[in-house]
Amino acid sequence: MRLAKDLDVEGKRVLVRSDLNVPVTDGVVGDDGRIRASVPLLRDLLDRGALPVVTAHLGRPKGSPDPAFSLAPVATRLEQLLGAPVVAAADVVGDSAAKAVADQQPGSVVLLENVRFEAAETSKDDAERGALADRLAGFADLYVDDAFGAVHRKHASVYDVAQRLPHAAGPLVATEVDVLKRLTEDPARPYAVVLGGSKVSDKLTVIEALLPKVDSLLVGGGMCFTFLKAQGHEVGASLLEEDQLETCRAFLETGKVVLPVDVVAAERFAADAAHDVVPVEEIPSDRMGLDIGPRSVELFRDALAGARTVFWNGPMGVFEMAPYAEGTRGVAEAVASLDGALTVVGGGDSAAAVRALGIDESRFTHISTGGGASLEYLEGKALPGLTVLED
Ligand code: 3PG
Repeated sequence: MRLAKDLDVEGKRVLVRSDLNVPVTDGVVGDDGRIRASVPLLRDLLDRGALPVVTAHLGRPKGSPDPAFSLAPVATRLEQLLGAPVVAAADVVGDSAAKAVADQQPGSVVLLENVRFEAAETSKDDAERGALADRLAGFADLYVDDAFGAVHRKHASVYDVAQRLPHAAGPLVATEVDVLKRLTEDPARPYAVVLGGSKVSDKLTVIEALLPKVDSLLVGGGMCFTFLKAQGHEVGASLLEEDQLETCRAFLETGKVVLPVDVVAAERFAADAAHDVVPVEEIPSDRMGLDIGPRSVELFRDALAGARTVFWNGPMGVFEMAPYAEGTRGVAEAVASLDGALTVVGGGDSAAAVRALGIDESRFTHISTGGGASLEYLEGKALPGLTVLED
C-alpha cells in the first residue's frame, strides 16, 4: 500500500475519507476519539500545503438528508482540535460542496456533508456507486483513505473512489493494519482474547475464526448469558439467544472458553434498579445480569496474567450506568497492567469505555478506531477498502 506521506500533495486538493462516526446527541458530540484520530493526517496535509476535502459518514441515515445525522457538529469539534478553519458544506456533491471546494485554498479544510445522505454511497449497484464516486473524485487530485473503521464497507467513498484517483493509505489505516497483522501473523503466546458486547450472534464468525488460534477466550457482557445457559445455568431475565445454545456448547467443548463465575443481577435495565452480586448458579428468575461480578474480574485477571498478546473487544457490562461499570473497569485495568504484552482494544464500545472510565489510553499498545472493521480483519475476510488501496 502506498502511504499518504509518500504523495506529493503541495498545492493539491486531496479527497480524504475519514471515519468521523461519533455519537452526537442534540447537536453535541460525545466521545470524540475518532475525530481526534483523524487529526494527524489532516494536520500533515495542511503542513504540506494541501487542501483536504474530507468525506465521512455519521450513523445510518436512510439515503437522504436528515438533520439528526448532519456532520455540522463534527465540523465544529474538528476545527477546535485542528486549529485550522473547517468549512462545512451543506451537501455531499451538490452546489454547496462544489462552491466550498472551489472557494477554499490550501490551509483550510472542507468537510462534505454526511456521505450517506446520498443513497448511492451504500448501493449494491456498481454503476450507482460509481456515479457518486465520479462526482467525489471530481473534487480532488488525489485520494487518501484514513477511515479504518469503514474499510470493511464496499461503499462509494471507501472503495469506488479509490479506483478513480491516485490513492494512498492514511497513517491511521496503516497503523491499524500493522497492529492487526501482529495479532494474526504468529502472535506471541500465550494469546488471550476477551470478548463482550450484547449478542453472541454478532460475534459468531469471529469466535469461530479465533478459537483455533488463541490459548484462551474470556467471555463477558450480555453474550456470556447464552454461554452460561449452555453450561447448564439458569440466567433469569438476562439476555439470551436460545438459537445459539448449540453453537455455544460446541465452543465450550474446546476447553478454551473462560466464563464469569458471578454477575451483577438487577431488577430492571436501569441505573437505579435494585441489584446484587450473585454467583452464576443463583441468578434469580426475575433478575437480569448487567455486569460481571468481582470474583469474575479476579478470575479474568488471573487468566490474563502472563499473556503476551491480548485482544479485547466489547464491554463486560452496561458500563454507561455506574452500578454496572466495574466489570469493564476491572478487565480494562487488568489488560492495561500487562507488562510487555501486545494489548489491543478493538474499537467501538470498548474504546469508548476506556475513555469514559478515565483509563489512560497510553497504557494499551493500541486502541483501534474500528469495531466491525477490526473484527472482520481478524476473521480473515478481505476488506474492500484495503484491497482497493493495494492495487
Ligand atoms: C463504525 O462505527 O464501526 C464505522 O464507522 C462503520 O459504521 P457502519 O457500521 O455504520 O458502517
